[in-house]
Amino acid sequence: MADIETISFPQDRTCPYHPPTGYRPAHRGPQAVSPARLFDGRTVWLVTGHAEARALLVDPRLSADRENPAFPVFTERVAATASRRVELIGLDDPEHNVQRRMLIPSFTVKRTAALRPRIQETVDSLLDAIIEQGPPVDLVSAFALPVPSMVICALLGVPYADHDFFESQSRRLLRGPAASDIDAARDALDEYFRALIQRKRSDPGEGLLDELIAQQLDTGSVNHDELVRMAEILLVAGHETTANMISLGTFTLLQHPDQLARLRASTDLMPAAVEELLRFLSIADGMSRVATQDIEVGGVTIRTGDGVILSTSVINRDEAAYPSPDELDLGRNSHNHVAFGFGIHQCLGQNLARAEMEIALRTLFDRLPELRLAAPAGDIPFKPGDTIQGMVELPVAW
Ligand code: HEM
Repeated sequence: MADIETISFPQDRTCPYHPPTGYRPAHRGPQAVSPARLFDGRTVWLVTGHAEARALLVDPRLSADRENPAFPVFTERVAATASRRVELIGLDDPEHNVQRRMLIPSFTVKRTAALRPRIQETVDSLLDAIIEQGPPVDLVSAFALPVPSMVICALLGVPYADHDFFESQSRRLLRGPAASDIDAARDALDEYFRALIQRKRSDPGEGLLDELIAQQLDTGSVNHDELVRMAEILLVAGHETTANMISLGTFTLLQHPDQLARLRASTDLMPAAVEELLRFLSIADGMSRVATQDIEVGGVTIRTGDGVILSTSVINRDEAAYPSPDELDLGRNSHNHVAFGFGIHQCLGQNLARAEMEIALRTLFDRLPELRLAAPAGDIPFKPGDTIQGMVELPVAW
């Protein structure tokens, strides 16, 4: 191991759609699992090989339990609240499975297909407003964020009128900047959902949250605090991620006019294009786990208690899995990418996210065929490496 470079994690991207160049040393040569140093000096394993990542993500010897003191946290900000319980994504089976099974029926391909007309309506009305307003427009606040935000509100039964509140708390949760921000944002969201659940109990509505109250809370399968935190994760994961994919996806297509022309020439290409954008952009870069037993993988031994970080952006650029991985090729078969994770925690909302991305991108480029950046690409701010990747704003004209 002496000749293997220890790299620091996380690092900012230098280009919004490429992995940080500093992660590359870990990916050169046969070393698909290599040491990385966190902000506090702790050394963990950084997984960058595609086959190794998929093997590890289904390995029950790796735990997602954030309450384990050895669970790796990669910023000082997160360390302050590291042991605070996170439902679903922060639990291991069998506890995790109990919660996941409550939610699966609402996120199937069939249930998502039934939401398509609603997503289309949302996208159409936002684009009507954008066209009426005229250029230039910030596509993040006018389109990329409200699309998934409105859709997840409708699905959960959360009033969209509260979006300024929960979007700003989500931003605070994910991007701080202070260590106290995560706690404060989670406290505010907890309080919001406690009050909403209370109101729904006396005046039920039609969303998933209402179903969970009637079918799980009132029958004792889930307790009140768990339901509050489940609602929180669904709301935050349900809008922040997809919003970043829509904004960064648009930016990336505008920066690859040949690929955009291909997409315009054949709308049949859209599902494959969305998959390739997911692979190429890998916005959720850095899934964390802790080993509960020794694991041999990629020529190294991960010891009990070692932290493991899986860099989706580098894993999804593994040449062994994708020829010419740094090229955006909307026609390629991007199968088996790990942009949604893999294994028991694989993204619950992936069908919904795909439908939203397809409808949003197709309709955007159909209705605004002259869409272009309204500022030099290099001047447009994008998000730092310690959070979900995406554009902070996206000024466009047409
Ligand atoms: C393009 C958008 C999205 C991306 C890239 C994304 C990415 C991910 C990833 C990588 C994971 C696994 C994390 C891990 O294993 O540590 C995950 C889990 C999850 N995602 Fe998504 N996600 C997206 C959209 C959504 C949406 C729309 C929802 C809707 C509610 C959602 C809800 C969840 C939930 C609840 C989990 C935890 C599942 C579990 O632990 O069983 N995500 N997502």
